[in-house]
Amino acid sequence: MAPSFNDENSLFNFVVKDGNGVKGLVDSGLTRVPGQYIQPPNHRINKQNATMSLENMTIDLSELDGPNHDQVVKSIAHAAETLGFFQVVNHGVPLELLESLKMSAHQFFNQPSEKKAVYLKGVSPSPMVKYGTSFVPEKEKALEWKDYISMIYTNDADALEFWPNECKLLHALMGNLGVKLDDSSLDALIGLRMVNMNFYPTCPNPDLTVGVGRHSDMGMLTVLLQDGIGGLYVKKGKDSSSGKEDWIEIPPIHGALVINIGDTLQIISNGRYKSAEHRVRTTSVESRVSVPIFNAPLPMVKIGPLPEVVARDGVARYREVIFEEEVVVEYINISKELVKRLLKIGILGVKLDDSKLNTLIGLRMINMNFYPTCPNQDLTVGVGRHPDIGMVTILPRHGIGGFYVKKPENWSLGLDRDSTPEALTHP
Ligand SMILES: [Fe+2]
Repeated sequence: MAPSFNDENSLFNFVVKDGNGVKGLVDSGLTRVPGQYIQPPNHRINKQNATMSLENMTIDLSELDGPNHDQVVKSIAHAAETLGFFQVVNHGVPLELLESLKMSAHQFFNQPSEKKAVYLKGVSPSPMVKYGTSFVPEKEKALEWKDYISMIYTNDADALEFWPNECKLLHALMGNLGVKLDDSSLDALIGLRMVNMNFYPTCPNPDLTVGVGRHSDMGMLTVLLQDGIGGLYVKKGKDSSSGKEDWIEIPPIHGALVINIGDTLQIISNGRYKSAEHRVRTTSVESRVSVPIFNAPLPMVKIGPLPEVVARDGVARYREVIFEEEVVVEYINISKELVKRLLKIGILGVKLDDSKLNTLIGLRMINMNFYPTCPNQDLTVGVGRHPDIGMVTILPRHGIGGFYVKKPENWSLGLDRDSTPEALTHP
């Protein structure tokens, strides 16, 4: 029996806040999609208007190491320059691993909602793991017919063991541009990795909904494992006379991985490689799962067209975005070593090895906070009471003061040399 959602809020609470997701909605027995999921007509995906990709965009990656190396690089570059999407086979990732990934996705989403809800944003035991639904449900006019769990990882040694070919692909694409990137530049460009498991439950009205709306990926390269259901559409272009958009479906190929170019790679290649818009259709037949891995630059990396490419093109088609100054990068690196040394002391009687430590402090974030003078310091706070969520926080101090730490029973002076005893009585 489908639950009745008397108003918009009750559906939103059920799906988003309580973590039942679209899966919970479908399991409750609904036979028509709720109004919140109906897309405006120009966002709907008309299957009849799209064609299946007939071009030969499937690349045998094992040939990169053989006598056909140059030909394979050409095919990869051609795909990156035209559609921005291609598929790879013989990629070195065991097929059993791909199968078990898809099975894990089904297993995760088939659990009772309470089990998944522990990973909802705000309560998840790790800031690196998040379970959710749609894209930004609080802001979207029409919700996407999709639940997901995302995991950020930064432990390259483990990751590369299973996904060794992203680097090979990037070397091929860079080589084709006449650019040689050293390992550390390449690491910085794909240093942030996130894996999603997406679940698209069956939908009673696929013509009215979308699994994922049109978007391009932000990072360098996305590696996507999709199952046999299909529904991934890529925008190929626009008919210049009619203005009609041309969308093609990327056909599921057993054992293949779909690769697509992200915005960052489009920018650094000065527009030569194409970050194509894509979207996902829902289906009434069977639930679909997909597992994309996003490879994006570390937060402080400068992104701009590569100088060698600009020199050849004679023009830079994008402005450089400077995420942070180099001094910040240096500060982050030094503080990382400090944190490692602190954690390695073994104060709990446990010695952690380097790879374990790297996993535990793999995600680093730097803030610059500014607290302007305040005419009523007794009525305001700079930052309210809170614990930090991660492993260790490092905070450089200066002479102004105002930083308080709670002792077990009462407020007390923290590291603040300027505070007065009266401050101790503040709640
Ligand atoms: Fe995407």
